[in-house]
Amino acid sequence: MVNRASVEPIKAGMRYEFERTEPPPGFPKLPRIPGGRYTDPGFLALEHRYLWQRSWLYACHLDELPQPGSFLLFKRTGSPILIVRGKDDVVRAFYNTCRHRGGPVVKEPAGRAEGLVCQYHGWTYGLDGRLLNLRDKRDFPDFDPRCYGLNAVRCERLGNWVFVNEDPDATPLLASLGEIPALWADIQPEQQRFVHKKSYRVKCNVKVLLDAFLEVYHLKSIHQNTVDRFLDYRGTTITLWPHGHSLMVTPNRRPDWVDPGTKGLLRLASASEITANHNPSYHVFPNLVTPIADSGIPFILFWPAGAREMEIEVVWFAPDWGGGEPPPQWQTRLANFERILYEDTQFAEYIQESVESPGFNGVNLNYQERRIYHWHEELDRRIGAERVAEHLRVQPVLAPFVVETIAS
Ligand code: FES
Ligand SMILES: [Fe+2]
Repeated sequence: MVNRASVEPIKAGMRYEFERTEPPPGFPKLPRIPGGRYTDPGFLALEHRYLWQRSWLYACHLDELPQPGSFLLFKRTGSPILIVRGKDDVVRAFYNTCRHRGGPVVKEPAGRAEGLVCQYHGWTYGLDGRLLNLRDKRDFPDFDPRCYGLNAVRCERLGNWVFVNEDPDATPLLASLGEIPALWADIQPEQQRFVHKKSYRVKCNVKVLLDAFLEVYHLKSIHQNTVDRFLDYRGTTITLWPHGHSLMVTPNRRPDWVDPGTKGLLRLASASEITANHNPSYHVFPNLVTPIADSGIPFILFWPAGAREMEIEVVWFAPDWGGGEPPPQWQTRLANFERILYEDTQFAEYIQESVESPGFNGVNLNYQERRIYHWHEELDRRIGAERVAEHLRVQPVLAPFVVETIAS
């Protein structure tokens, strides 16, 4: 059985959290996070270049590329990226940018193609990106087509989940995730099927809303009639991993509690006690939050859409139910989740007004909110702290509390 090594430390962590009367010895008072990190155009430009264009980002599920030639466009980083399943069933990513003069190789957001033909002058590429044909070759003297394939974007998988990264030198996906792939073995990533996805526009900087999903300090206020009824935030235990990733496990109020929205759904027998009976919410840096469960998994993704606008995308997966439409109980489950999501998003526009006003001088975090600080420390590491204006930097203080593995 997987995951055993982490179960006892997590349970011990929950007991500790219930009993403590103050932060653990040596835990620092977290310095204020400068408000300008949410608004300063220069800082947001650095974030775009060194974070969004250089991180592993979840892009799609294999079920969304069902056949050779299935493709979709991924534009979340601002670059046009084409993800396509080859004749060899390998999923690859390329810039959707013809090597002649930058015409689009595909225009539809998703579809299926036999080959990839630029719509401007007809250069033709294989599903593997090689340039196969060009019109009037005689007019391109000394032209070697082998040098004019579509430019590749890094594209790697964890189970059926496809991630892309515009940084050609990035650490391979699985290595960059540290302990997470091993912990997720209990939910069998290769057994997870695509159920549903939906996006919501919110008028705030992407970090304003992401912050809300990295802590449970808000449960008593905004989820008093939903999440707070079944989760006990006082026992929440947190693991901070290298590279900005983190885990927050919140215990159920009652060990035998079962989410009524999941009744009758298939459950993975391989799920660990933590996954099956508690709420383990993973954060895969920089923008994926996922409270995994034995009966289904939402990927909650936070995408920037300008300085003061963002999109939250919720993609659901479930253990293979044997094909066809997802079981009807999913309607209830999705509706329940959406209700909670609206609770979480309700203050975002107001907070955005605040962060833009002189009345705001920064984010003051408590011990329970340390994942947010961890996130910001990693952001400065990615950008390179020396590039960040001094008044916008966060002071790194959490290194002593970062671990390679839960059991370490
Ligand atoms: S831009 Fe693609 S063929 Fe000319
Ligand atoms: Fe919440």
